[in-house]
Amino acid sequence: MARKVRIGALASGGGTNLQAIIDACQNGSLDAEIALVFTNNPEAGALKRARKAGIACSVLDHREFQSREDFDRAVVQTLQDAGVELVILAGFMRLISEVFLDAFPGRIMNIHPALLPAFPGLHVQRKALEYGARFAGCTVHFVDKGVDTGPIIIQAVVPVLDDDTEESLSARILVQEHRVYPRAIQLFAEGRLQIEGRRVRISPPLTPAEASLANPPLDA
Ligand code: GAR
Repeated sequence: MARKVRIGALASGGGTNLQAIIDACQNGSLDAEIALVFTNNPEAGALKRARKAGIACSVLDHREFQSREDFDRAVVQTLQDAGVELVILAGFMRLISEVFLDAFPGRIMNIHPALLPAFPGLHVQRKALEYGARFAGCTVHFVDKGVDTGPIIIQAVVPVLDDDTEESLSARILVQEHRVYPRAIQLFAEGRLQIEGRRVRISPPLTPAEASLANPPLDA
């Protein structure tokens, strides 16, 4: 059996992405183990999910630190103490400073509920809807200095429907988030991801060259 990558998962909210990764580790579809779940929010649902799965947890309230860098230094120390190799941001609602980036170069992933580079930042499902986009989706990317700007690993696309609300669109995207995040981590675990500038090369390549989607469908 392949060696399991040690993950540190950072979450601030409900933790459904974390749950998808926990499930994938447990059912053997992901060659990874979650060494630590970290949160800045003692009320995070993610914390309950981690405890239920018997995963070590750490909570630090960022408001108790003088600066973003001080907070990040403490988080980095906690992750390093747990032997974490890959950091995954799973609904972690804090910006990452250079202190953090330098400690895990090319080894921090984030999931974002939009098709980057469209709609970085917050409330992005609502923004896609308001803009009138016909497609929305999610992106797993490596984290760099910018906000949601790092090299893209995998994206999944969903249609935006005429009667969508922010809630219905978010729910459709979330289903895909739960599929793509474990996939991105597995590609990392298999040593198949290489960052070349802005692009992430996957070896051997997985390229469905003929795949296309149209919304509304072309043959309706
Ligand atoms: C997810 O939709 C994730 O993509 C988003 O927060 C939600 C967390 O849900 N992350 C961001 O917007 C990061 N900028 P979860 O706690 O149920 O996984």
